[in-house]
Amino acid sequence: MSSMEHVAPPQPGEVGAFETTATERVASVDDLASLDALVAELTGKRSPFALWKRSLGGLAHGDRRAIGQELNEALARVEALVESRRALLAAAAREVLVVADRLDLTDVVATPGAGHLHLVTQVREELEDVFVGMGYEIADGPEAETEWYNFTALNVPRDHPARSMQDSFYLATGDRESYLLRTQTSPVQVRLLERGTLPLYAIAPGRVYRRDTADARHLPVFHQIEGIVVDRDVTFGDLAGTVETFVTAIFGTGIATRLRPAYFPFTEPSAEFEITCTICTGSGCRTCGQTGWIELGGCGLIHPAVLEASGVDPERWSGFAFGFGIDRLAIMRHEIDDIRSFVENDVRFLTQF
Ligand code: DAH
Repeated sequence: MSSMEHVAPPQPGEVGAFETTATERVASVDDLASLDALVAELTGKRSPFALWKRSLGGLAHGDRRAIGQELNEALARVEALVESRRALLAAAAREVLVVADRLDLTDVVATPGAGHLHLVTQVREELEDVFVGMGYEIADGPEAETEWYNFTALNVPRDHPARSMQDSFYLATGDRESYLLRTQTSPVQVRLLERGTLPLYAIAPGRVYRRDTADARHLPVFHQIEGIVVDRDVTFGDLAGTVETFVTAIFGTGIATRLRPAYFPFTEPSAEFEITCTICTGSGCRTCGQTGWIELGGCGLIHPAVLEASGVDPERWSGFAFGFGIDRLAIMRHEIDDIRSFVENDVRFLTQF
């Protein structure tokens, strides 16, 4: 049929016949893309319906009303049919996806026998190996901490925003001392200093908690690794050399390190350490905000107030500390674009590492 024929109004019975064909064709279409194409053909701008409607203007008033109404009703029935067909096909397409993704955990043949360590654990163990190789001990601390260890002994001011209920998970223990889920691994520094065994070379990896909404770059529960060194005459140069050593051990020699002035209450002077962006290797991209550098963590020379709070004489001892996110480091090394993948436990993700 050429479109010219339809500029004429429909002949008696023609709308009905077209509706019958349309109904059959809609019912026999079996995928969404074909349905879309068919809808365009049946009801679109160049469809018989559209052309017939255009012809109405040339009709006498009575005919125009009657034929117009006939067209509208037929069109509405065809459209209703299309929508129910669309719902059916969409449900079928979803079902195909669900079946394709199904993993039968009771099928011991199809599921892999042995698992392996999570990427974050693998990276933590690599970091531990690097530091043990440099003579550090591996330390541990509680995840439910007191405000004293998490903030006060670390020289964090009383009114610091990090202390607020909005940023930290406080625990309703009923004790006079406030407890919270530690927001950083830095409180382990204080616990180590309190032991009074010096010199001290230690790292403390572990879980930390913040009241953050999960997104591509944040999780409310994540992992940090803290480092602390206290000895005679420790300098900023020792700190810079240490940072450089473990960055090279983890990322290889192609990745450079730099320190930038920053502020942390527990160190003075303080710095943020950055590494060459692993995505663009320094040329600038979206991930690094076109700077070519990515922040990995914080560090500095331990503030005398922190040493004093733990009973260490700052006149006799000095030290440095650093802390950074293990998950963050893993993301950068493996170019993972969404940190939430670490907690989704999708085997297709986990088995890549
Ligand atoms: N605790 C800091 C944080 O969570 C990181 C940090 C910065 C740790 C400087 C340090 C340090 O030991 O010296 O953001």
